[in-house]
Amino acid sequence: MNNQQLHQRRSQVIAQGMGAMYPLYVERAENAHVWDIEGNKYIDFAAGIAVTNTGHSNQRITNAVKEQLDNFSHTCAMVTPYGSFVELAEKLTELAPGDSAKKAIFLTTGAEAVENAVKVARAHTGRSGVIAFKGGFHGRTNMTMGLTGKIAPYKAGFGPFPNEIFHAPYPNELHGISTQDSLQALQDLFACDIEPSRVAAIIFEPVQGEGGFYQAPVDFAKALRALCDQHGIMLIADEIQTGFARTGKLFATEYLDIEPDMMTMAKGIAGGFPISAVVGKASVMDSALPGGLGGTYAGSPLGCVAGLEVLKIVEEEDLCNKANGIGEIVNRRMTELQKSLPQIAEIRTIGAMMAIEFADPESGQPLQDLTKAVIGKAQENGLILLSCGVRANVIRLLPPLTIESEVLEEGLDRLEKILLELA
Ligand SMILES: Cc1ncc(COP(=O)(O)O)c(C=O)c1O
Repeated sequence: MNNQQLHQRRSQVIAQGMGAMYPLYVERAENAHVWDIEGNKYIDFAAGIAVTNTGHSNQRITNAVKEQLDNFSHTCAMVTPYGSFVELAEKLTELAPGDSAKKAIFLTTGAEAVENAVKVARAHTGRSGVIAFKGGFHGRTNMTMGLTGKIAPYKAGFGPFPNEIFHAPYPNELHGISTQDSLQALQDLFACDIEPSRVAAIIFEPVQGEGGFYQAPVDFAKALRALCDQHGIMLIADEIQTGFARTGKLFATEYLDIEPDMMTMAKGIAGGFPISAVVGKASVMDSALPGGLGGTYAGSPLGCVAGLEVLKIVEEEDLCNKANGIGEIVNRRMTELQKSLPQIAEIRTIGAMMAIEFADPESGQPLQDLTKAVIGKAQENGLILLSCGVRANVIRLLPPLTIESEVLEEGLDRLEKILLELA
């Protein structure tokens, strides 16, 4: 069986809505390398979309999960819980930014974490409205699709979405949206669409992920915090893509010098095991009735032990510093390349959450075709890459934070070669 044959079989039985970036079928993966079933070896600059921050097949996580599996795999934490469930909550509530006493809940996916944060915000405030941002991504369930601020492919054809959701522009210097513009748009929403006293929550990503890796300015985050305080609105930071050392801090909110009322976490939380969390102020988190939050697999014991191991690895292996080191290398090399490639409009590196945006140097128009071609060429050059951006003109680099420096350099050599060939 080769990649092409499996891809053919896939197309017969998997609906096209569940896309695949590459017709590449994985046999095994180790740290920043992936091998396909034909024996081809790739450098992975995707890490399963910022999930395996601690590297593929991390032995410490594998051992912790194996040991757990030998004991039990599932009891349902809402029926008969276990120590790792409590311990992971203790650790995350301690590590989440801000001085308030905190509580957590566990779920399975990122979208579920966002759904539950909105549920808690509504239960706490007794209000219904939610404000999110254009270009934001929060998931594929009905509520999180509604919150997402990008139509194709996430919302196209899937409406109606829940009502009482409103979108404001996210600050974006490159595209001429200032903090002031975004704040004014929020005031306009309050004047034209929903009074602030009916808004339960404002949800934002400290760095927009799918939207293109744009970081929230500190003055914007502080103004959001002040606005929420003024009107009794819950501020939710969606840290699903940014969390767990990816941006050079354990959580990207730490750059913003604010304490959100709730944070959503998933992806890197457990290095590839499906578990997510909402961590927030205890006074807020306790608003829902017992049994109102959770799920059959919520806080799976496999996810909990993996999550505990991830936190140890992040600390012991200093992954925040490693993320910053990766960002510096990528920034230096891509800035050098930009001198000969004016199609590179901007290089953004927030720790190891790294993006390259392409635009026509004269017209400023987004270069979607170039972006698509770069992604397409990556496979034949032994590289796994992802795109993002509302205008589909950004490639994002998300290698495991444990990537060896020579593998990172080799991956960047390949990327440079592709870019020079195509631009
Ligand atoms: C910021 C953000 N929120 C929510 C989600 C949804 O997470 P999941 O795909 O686990 O439901 C994602 C996934 O990419 C994300 O990046």
